[in-house]
Amino acid sequence: MNIRKSILSIAFFMSAAITLTAAEGMWIPLFLKKLNEAEMKSLGMKIDAEDIYSVNRSSLKDAVVLFGGGCTGEVVSPEGLLLTNHHCGYSVIASHSTMENNILQNGFWAKNKSEELINPSLSVTFIKRIEEVTDAALTGVTDDMDLKSRNEKIAQNIRAIRDTARREEWQNVEIKPFFKDNRYFMFIRETYSDVRLVGCPPVSVGKYGSETDNWVWPRHTGDFSVFRIYADKNNRPAAPSEDNVPYRPDHFFPISINGIEEGDFTLVFGFPGRTDEYLPAPALEQTANHRNPVKVGMRDIALKVWGEEMRANDTTKLVYANRYSSVANAWKKWQGESLGLNRTGGYDKKKRYEADFLATEVGKRPENTQLLNDLYAQYEKLLPYGIAYDITSEFSSLSDAYKLYSAIARVLSSKDANQIERYKKTAYSLLDARTLPIDRRAFVKLADFWVKNIPSQFVPEAVSAIYKECGEDWNKVADKVYNHPIFTKEGIDALLAKDAESRKKEFAESPLAVLFSSVNNMMIDKVVPVYNEVNTQIAFLMKRYMAAQMEAFPDKAFFPDANLTLRASYGQVKGMQARDGIYYIPQTFLDGVIEKYIPGDFEYDLPAKVLELHEKKDYGRYADSKGRMPVCFIATNHTTGGNSGSPAVNAYGQLIGLNFDRLWEGTMSDLNYDASICRNIMVDIRYVLWLIDKVGGAGYLLDEMTIIQGDENASKPAGKKDKKRK
Ligand code: ARG
Ligand code: ASP
Repeated sequence: MNIRKSILSIAFFMSAAITLTAAEGMWIPLFLKKLNEAEMKSLGMKIDAEDIYSVNRSSLKDAVVLFGGGCTGEVVSPEGLLLTNHHCGYSVIASHSTMENNILQNGFWAKNKSEELINPSLSVTFIKRIEEVTDAALTGVTDDMDLKSRNEKIAQNIRAIRDTARREEWQNVEIKPFFKDNRYFMFIRETYSDVRLVGCPPVSVGKYGSETDNWVWPRHTGDFSVFRIYADKNNRPAAPSEDNVPYRPDHFFPISINGIEEGDFTLVFGFPGRTDEYLPAPALEQTANHRNPVKVGMRDIALKVWGEEMRANDTTKLVYANRYSSVANAWKKWQGESLGLNRTGGYDKKKRYEADFLATEVGKRPENTQLLNDLYAQYEKLLPYGIAYDITSEFSSLSDAYKLYSAIARVLSSKDANQIERYKKTAYSLLDARTLPIDRRAFVKLADFWVKNIPSQFVPEAVSAIYKECGEDWNKVADKVYNHPIFTKEGIDALLAKDAESRKKEFAESPLAVLFSSVNNMMIDKVVPVYNEVNTQIAFLMKRYMAAQMEAFPDKAFFPDANLTLRASYGQVKGMQARDGIYYIPQTFLDGVIEKYIPGDFEYDLPAKVLELHEKKDYGRYADSKGRMPVCFIATNHTTGGNSGSPAVNAYGQLIGLNFDRLWEGTMSDLNYDASICRNIMVDIRYVLWLIDKVGGAGYLLDEMTIIQGDENASKPAGKKDKKRK
């Protein structure tokens, strides 16, 4: 972007920011009353903070779960029925799909409880109670302690807190640091491991628009799936078993089909995974302009090669589908993040904030002024190592040749028989004739980009030598590397049949190992130690900087960075001024889904039933007041990865949608939320119900739910209605 253009867009976005409501923050439920309730009510909320989180009575938190390792789900019936995203249930759905019964492709609806599908490795976790345990965690920790003794002391304190925590025998305890290790919170949790698949729409609906539409508005994805939690006869967690019964929640979300309008209050309540909002300016600049670009550059190459091959061949498409999807997801996000940071002047905003900090009494203290100087110095030191670390991590995960090297090296160095078997299996799996030629094509370009973009001091001698030897042609290098017996099962077996000494020697001489062991050793010798050391220093400085920021601005409400603990994000349904002359309205409709429809397409195909019902405008009670079928909507809630599947609720605590994504333009909300462009994307609950009921023919599931339409609405704040259920 040239300078003139970037100044123009900064000015444009800043003026847009003034007219919008700030909605930054992922708040700890425990402090909503103290810190947020007044603002939430001023934005339109009709319930109280106590209705969202309470330990004395049932509240919304009793209906929200951490789903699997990194998504959110919500309970919507007194019989433990659970909603989450399709992309959160994806691997489970895929695991039940076969060629004969392809439920991923066709969708699935259990006709009764006996048809619900058991999942051996899926669990959900409720939060029963949150307590601050900072004092206990920091007992005996003093400022003059070195980092190691400090960490040991804290770990010891945390063990003691865990061991003495008041809890029921079926509950578990989690203790995590907040505000850059300045405060500690304990979560008393209940984890249920019998979670069954109840239903899902066909993948064409659940992942409509696939990669092209991912992170993009206008969006038309029906990103939901349905599960049910089972418990033992006492409603306690139990391993999957026929004897289990549907879980009876303390609260479930009533569902409002009254619809939404721009400006309406929204609350997203879930488990955001990771953000970094308090970093100094250079950290943002490095992410936006140096570290994201090398990661994106590597992924550009792999995605282009895989994509071309996938388009040319159906089998290839199947083989690469999941890998492509997950690599493309972060690739696209990072690009939006860099663009957004530059567009909104994220770096300059931070600099202004730092100037404000330094102008306060607290900031003027010499040790605090020094703190920022030290952070700047550490970031300057970090940059080349950060780039080397990122670009090489990408190389090692995008290149199957690199993975093959690592797997064989591990077989040779490992002493554990089980591990050896595992690495061997990995090595064999990488020899797939369907992927090897594709990997070779990618390798030629990845290696070239890696050498050109890693700071030159890190390019190993051996890599330069092999490149020269091959006439500076990566194609020839690839011939040397790939046309070697190590790329066949027989070759690996022959190698492994040799005695310890000769197999090590022989492997080390293979071009594969010459190349990648030099890269690996370079990382181990030169990059990783400094990278880790500098990051440790930064973490230590950030702890003090975080505390200083909070002391310097005592009237500002601070929220802690996301750490996969339960948080409330509130905001309003709101469109977005995308560019001059382009305003994104906050809602999409089924007509828009149909507009994108391409029969038989990989991303935009649709089930016949959707087309048929659209043709007849058969939307039942789910249509909006103008007779349209709503599909997705956007709002200003501050969310991140992990918030997928989170309940989006209205002013009354009733479910209006499922969070599943953010706008690409605003993905820098992980580092620097800006209300002018940051929006989360939700699938409208009316679309979800229509898909279950009319398209899926599973209307009987709705009988379990409490569906609110019309006036009844205002009088029933959630949390109160289902009080004392047990
Ligand atoms: N962007 C969303 C998130 O980060 C959805 C990802 C899954 N969908 C996809 N098309 N890759 O998780
Ligand atoms: N799609 C993300 C998730 O899966 C949500 C986000 O990053 O906004 O959690």
